[in-house]
Amino acid sequence: MAVLDPRTVLSITSDLATLPESATRISSILSNEDWDLDDVVLVVRRDPVLAARVLQVANAAGLVARAEISDLSVGVLRLGVGAILALVIGSSVRREMTRSSSGFDEARLWRHSVATALTVESMPSAGGRQPPTEAYSAAILHDIGMYLVARYLRDHPPEGAVESETIDSMHAEVGALAAEQWNLSPVLCGAIRHHHDPVSGPDEEVRRVAACIALGDGVATRIGMPHGGASVELDLFGPEMVEATGIDEAAFEALCETVAGRLDAFAHRYD
Ligand SMILES: [Fe+2]
Ligand SMILES: [Fe+2]
Repeated sequence: MAVLDPRTVLSITSDLATLPESATRISSILSNEDWDLDDVVLVVRRDPVLAARVLQVANAAGLVARAEISDLSVGVLRLGVGAILALVIGSSVRREMTRSSSGFDEARLWRHSVATALTVESMPSAGGRQPPTEAYSAAILHDIGMYLVARYLRDHPPEGAVESETIDSMHAEVGALAAEQWNLSPVLCGAIRHHHDPVSGPDEEVRRVAACIALGDGVATRIGMPHGGASVELDLFGPEMVEATGIDEAAFEALCETVAGRLDAFAHRYD
């Protein structure tokens, strides 16, 4: 079989839902080194659906003893900008990604993506480093290329190639191209591209976000939600990974427990 061009795959599947304007705006704000929280609050305030969602999720995420939040600025602060970008992106790709197409288990892929995002969110409480802001949405989107390649192959069955191998080998690049098409930030796109081999990322920021995704992949796999196929073997506890995530082998076990325990409640965030 001729080698598939990732751009061909993407052009065929380019009827992907467009992301809400708020997603590209927030992603663009985050691209600036000196981004300002007030700018993000302004974007959220101008999107009534997102604003209501942020308050709802921020209140659900609060501890019982905390007061109900009605101020959007406080809601944005409590939830965090990374989680908000993931919320707006995740809510809009969820329906698409869980739509059934022959032979590919989208529901499982979605759950894997959510477990990866929850890993990112849970890293600090497990003793790890604070993840970069874009790690949350990169986690939600990291395997979207799997869904896209599977959709392409459904209409263009491969000859002489194993479908799962084609999906495994192409999904990171196709996913990164989709993120670029959505005008998401270079860090987010780069992290999707390098999520199976974080050290190959072009700069430290991309490598750090990619490492967080790789860690999430590892946690999702450990708690019974692998992403469906063979992957590049990666030592999650190698020096570069531990430096980027702050999660060593002992912390990893605690992180897996946290993610497994919180996954059902966390998944509702994107309903
Ligand atoms: Fe992947
Ligand atoms: Fe994955």
